[in-house]
Amino acid sequence: MIKIGVAGCGKIAQVRHLPEYADRKEVVIAGVYDLNYERACEVASRYEATAYKDFQDLLRDPSIDAVSICVANAFHCDMTVEALRAGKHVLCEKPMAITLEQCEKMVQTARETGKFLMIGHNQRLARAHAKARELVQAGEIGSIITFQTNFQHSGPETWTIDSSQIWFFDKKKAAFGAMADLGIHKTDLIQFLTGQRVHEVMAYVGTLDKRDKEGNFIGVDDNAVCIYQMDGGCVGIMKASWTCYGQEDNHTVLYGTEGVMHIYEDPRYSIVIEYKDGTRTLYEADEIQTNDHQTKSGIIDLWVDCLVNNQEPAISGEEALSAMKAVFAAMESARTGKKVTVE
Ligand SMILES: NC(=O)c1ccc[n+]([C@@H]2O[C@H](COP(=O)([O-])OP(=O)(O)OC[C@H]3O[C@@H](n4cnc5c(N)ncnc54)[C@H](O)[C@@H]3O)[C@@H](O)[C@H]2O)c1
Repeated sequence: MIKIGVAGCGKIAQVRHLPEYADRKEVVIAGVYDLNYERACEVASRYEATAYKDFQDLLRDPSIDAVSICVANAFHCDMTVEALRAGKHVLCEKPMAITLEQCEKMVQTARETGKFLMIGHNQRLARAHAKARELVQAGEIGSIITFQTNFQHSGPETWTIDSSQIWFFDKKKAAFGAMADLGIHKTDLIQFLTGQRVHEVMAYVGTLDKRDKEGNFIGVDDNAVCIYQMDGGCVGIMKASWTCYGQEDNHTVLYGTEGVMHIYEDPRYSIVIEYKDGTRTLYEADEIQTNDHQTKSGIIDLWVDCLVNNQEPAISGEEALSAMKAVFAAMESARTGKKVTVE
């Protein structure tokens, strides 16, 4: 049996981590922790786990093998590092952390302790994304020339468990807005689909519309539009937005030398390929999760499989760091107005 601790008992823990752990017969949810102890107790009673008032007490339980970190962004690094040093494997939610130094520290600590570190970049596990990568690798649309990838919805207000106090808008707790909340998913995804890394970034990241209850602009960005030049030569646009007040948009288009691949654009066919000769192939893989329609993300299954088989996760800290470097480059580009090279 693998014993799991969950730190942070908010929305992502309740709709994804906890139920997906509970689905696995090899797993016991042993301990939970939240700054809001009542919430931790309520979750603990649902899963017959122990609720802890202090994260250190959870970490002191020698029977706990691995910990999910599901708290506000600013605490990801410290809690991950503490858990790794306590001998636990760590699955940390995205965005990995709020500075490059923090992300590097997480990777370094995983290396030093020999424990696994995985980051919750679940977009690449969506069935159509996994299939699209296979098709790209098989050369179905030739070489990718350009792309567009979007993640847009109306914002986290109806998502977070504490809608009276939205930490997502608080710069101290969130550090960034749509760019790292949604943009990190698409940055990781485009690297995964193209098999190329972001090399240069030119970006707009700013606050255009979203205001707090007092009518002031929120403390973080509500929109990001980035031009990514990839190291393999293709160029594209990544757009992340919290001001899409219509249907959630989660689509990607890859424009290749032999055809165009549309992913999660058509409501029925999750992949549509249009070839140069005018023919089309349609794939019915699945519907992507939206905030209102959660389906199994696959992230916990992948994580538990790694723990069971003692196998390094593919979405490791190092892998996530490469996408976070592009996010930090985008923030710098937006600040300076200049194109930034990702180191
Ligand atoms: N992978 C995804 O698609 C995805 C989706 C949503 C959220 N997330 C990430 O998950 C994390 C949590 O977001 P959420 O949507 O669950 O938010 P939420 O507001 O619903 O819940 C956050 C919970 O964490 C607790 N918390 C905050 N700081 C804490 C701390 N320092 N120590 C202990 N508990 C603390 C809060 O009391 C609350 O219960 C964020 O980093 C977010 O970016 C990932």
